[in-house]
Amino acid sequence: MLERVVSARRTASHSDEDDDSVLGTDESKTKRQNLYLLASNYLSRFSHFCCQCTAPTACLVLCLVLVFVSVASLFVHSRNFVCISPFDPKTRVGFFGLDGLESDFGSLGVPWCRSKYGKTVEWTSKDLIKGLEEFVPIYETRPIKNNMYGMGFDHSFGLWFIARWLKPDLMIESGAFKGHSTWVLRQAMPDTPIVSLSPRHPEKYLKKGPAYVDGNCTYFAGKDFVDFGSVNWNAVMRKHGITDLSRVLIFFDDHQNELKRVKQALHAGFQHLVFEDNYDTGTGDHYSLRQICDQSYIRGGGHSCFVDSDEARIRLKRKIFWEKAVDIDGLCGPNEAWWGVRGWMRDNFNHSNKPISYEEHFQNSRFVESILDVYWELPPAAGPSLTHQTRYDPARAVSPIVEDGRYGLFQRLGLGRLETSVFNGYTQMVYLQISQPGS
Ligand SMILES: C[S@@+](CC[C@H](N)C(=O)[O-])C[C@H]1O[C@@H](n2cnc3c(N)ncnc32)[C@H](O)[C@@H]1O
Repeated sequence: MLERVVSARRTASHSDEDDDSVLGTDESKTKRQNLYLLASNYLSRFSHFCCQCTAPTACLVLCLVLVFVSVASLFVHSRNFVCISPFDPKTRVGFFGLDGLESDFGSLGVPWCRSKYGKTVEWTSKDLIKGLEEFVPIYETRPIKNNMYGMGFDHSFGLWFIARWLKPDLMIESGAFKGHSTWVLRQAMPDTPIVSLSPRHPEKYLKKGPAYVDGNCTYFAGKDFVDFGSVNWNAVMRKHGITDLSRVLIFFDDHQNELKRVKQALHAGFQHLVFEDNYDTGTGDHYSLRQICDQSYIRGGGHSCFVDSDEARIRLKRKIFWEKAVDIDGLCGPNEAWWGVRGWMRDNFNHSNKPISYEEHFQNSRFVESILDVYWELPPAAGPSLTHQTRYDPARAVSPIVEDGRYGLFQRLGLGRLETSVFNGYTQMVYLQISQPGS
């Protein structure tokens, strides 16, 4: 699996112009400027300029012109402010424009974990699009149709795609719930053994409704449950005839502190990890990779708790439209602690939290950078104007595989057949490749 990881790209490689060659031409891609945002940006910049101005007459004329242009733009777009739910996709598109759905944080950026040598994955947006075409009909046959509290479409696709690409000899999952993720792993690799750790055995859910129990899976569940950090992995590997740990894929969906899980996996010698919930700073019930790497020295990382900052204004605006977006009040705890969740390192479904100092948070990222070979965030399957998802702010995610406006491609891939709710669970699933520091 190691050789597959070859090239260095920051974004999720969706820039290929020839995606359409995979599935025919998509004529529907449209991009338009959002005059309201432009006007308000200029207004805020020039109000600053007007206040500082030293040539009063010229400045007054210039400022009046700018105010007129901004007010006219607001008037033209005022139909967007009538009584429509802010979570209505059309309203969001009207307010932000297609670009605006994802670009507000452009100047601020979104933090990213640096890997040791800048490597990333070798799969491209074309591979992801081909994968989507193949996966949608598989997903439609899932046994657990309503997987509330478990994975939705985006992460199911991500896990399936990664497992199928890496072709591991053994797959380990921590956090099975009713067994949907076990089913996804099985679809990716029909004959590969699975080890599943979960306090409650998925078979228990069968009494109440749909669940999935796999015939080629060793369950450490129910009375046999052992936490990932306490398993004798040498013995498990021996039992499965695994001698090369680079042939094992670990999937974590157990809502534990990801720093703890990364250290445990590294200690056991595992290299390929997927974390289902890679929560953004200020959100979620456990300390995540995304949070760890949110550092002032990373572009887009580090935050200001100043209420009159650009970030505060952007966050306030985004929160109107995206249920999970976080404003400055949600981001910052006492003493302006913004890291983790308001200065806390959360663990175990938010049941076991501890405040951490900024210094400790900083050291955590340095440690993670010292062991990271690859950090790749799964892009959302499609943009919000297509999926009509209303929860996560697309500005805090990498560009979607099927970008906003590509309605034809969205339909051809079969994504239009899925219910909207299956697109609501995206939380930046991440694939990591790790190795000991210095190696
Ligand atoms: C979000 S659910 C998993 C959803 C599942 N992967 C899916 O996609 O349907 C989290 C699961 O983690 C389990 N869990 C709680 N503590 C755990 C631990 N220490 N190790 C493994 N699983 C744990 C919970 O019981 C629950 O079943």
